[in-house]
Amino acid sequence: MEETLTITDNRTNRTYTIPFFKGCIRTADLRQIRKDAEDFGVMGYDPAFMNTASCQSSITYIDGDKGILRYRGYPIEELAESCNYLEVAHLLLRGELPDEQQLRSWTQEVMTHAFLHENVKKFMDGFHYDAHPMGILISTVAALSTFYPDARNIHDPEVRKMQMRRLLGKIPTLAAYAYRHHLGRPYVYPDPDLGFTENFLTMLWKQRGKECRIHPALSRALDVLFILHADHEQNCGTNAMRSVGSSHADPYVSTAAAAAALSGPLHGGANEEVLRMLDEIGSKANIPAYIEGTKSGQRRLMGFGHRVYKNYDPRARIIKKIAEDVFEVTGVNPKLEIALELERIALEDEYFVKRRLYPNVDFYSGIIYQAMGFSPEMFTVLFAIPRVAGWLAQWAEMLEDPEQKIARPRQIYTGEWLRHVEAAGREAGQART
Ligand code: CMC
Repeated sequence: MEETLTITDNRTNRTYTIPFFKGCIRTADLRQIRKDAEDFGVMGYDPAFMNTASCQSSITYIDGDKGILRYRGYPIEELAESCNYLEVAHLLLRGELPDEQQLRSWTQEVMTHAFLHENVKKFMDGFHYDAHPMGILISTVAALSTFYPDARNIHDPEVRKMQMRRLLGKIPTLAAYAYRHHLGRPYVYPDPDLGFTENFLTMLWKQRGKECRIHPALSRALDVLFILHADHEQNCGTNAMRSVGSSHADPYVSTAAAAAALSGPLHGGANEEVLRMLDEIGSKANIPAYIEGTKSGQRRLMGFGHRVYKNYDPRARIIKKIAEDVFEVTGVNPKLEIALELERIALEDEYFVKRRLYPNVDFYSGIIYQAMGFSPEMFTVLFAIPRVAGWLAQWAEMLEDPEQKIARPRQIYTGEWLRHVEAAGREAGQART
């Protein structure tokens, strides 16, 4: 069977044969289809990348209809069951799960970089006490760029690896400092001897002069949440990382751009919005009216729907299970009852069934975070910490891909065609002062 597509241009009656490339067509092949010699040629128009692959990637696979998510071929369920976050970060960044020895040295390499330059505290202190921790995280990640000018040398694989270790190690510390700043508490230095997640929780919760023991069930639950959030192929934040990185900007500012994209309520910011929504609903009795409001377009049901998943988000399924482990330690978050009922009603409602809207990763994660003691402003930060591994893996893959160039979409111009500046009231050739 010939792997080609035949297109007839009815404007000219000419026929073109376009080869398939891995089941796609290269839209640049459409440029040969022209009305006349002056014509630019046919372009694809796809404002939200609804049906456009922007890259080839061997990192994450999603089948949205079947509810499948795999990192480097491993099902997310198996990774969540058997691995820790740093193993998964190694898998994403280096392509393989580490063996025991590799994991030991990888953990040490990352944790060594958990410390921040003392000057970071100074600009951290400059933020208002009520500054949103996501704003602080985005700004301070970008600021790290000024501490590591070597990072600009993005074409050197060793330099790239160094920045990856630095970023993985430093992000939890920045996040913890942002949290402590919010509470007006002194910053806690990292302890590289603790595991990645235990160290993070200790930096958040340690009180001076007191021993800080993190409950292993909570530390494990957060670690699994980190695994679930580590990568998700070409989502809005990752697309920002690749797009900004394609200009050869350094990885710190590129990561800041990705984090900025993540902060929006349609993306990672949704976990914070879910909690606000559950607060607004207040009780099970108010759910039907709230759902009617979403159906009439007044608002969206936050934590529901996904561009790719048209089935239950496999991460939401795992998260529901983690919730049980956390609630055993913390007691049940009363919002769980409202969330479960909301899900039950929505999944039976024709509006949601027809549009294939299911709970996504953000629907239950906030309820767990809140039970663990986090305030909603921290939720998106908790999403950003592990996603750094995915962003960096995608960034490095993009830089090594010989087909990638600076990201620069085309447009369809819809403005005035040509106008001339009126001469009246102006000196010839002069701007008004
Ligand atoms: N509540 C009510 N209606 C919805 C929702 C929702 N949460 N999501 C989509 N719809 C409707 C939408 O109004 C549209 O209906 P119609 O065809 O009648 O116009 C239809 O479903 C298709 O929606 P869309 O906006 O074209 O879908 P999209 O792929 O552009 O948007 C989404 C995906 C995630 C932005 C959207 O589902 C949404 O806004 N969800 C709520 C926010 C949220 O939970 N975001 C987290 C996403 S998962 C984690 C992450 O990416 O960070």
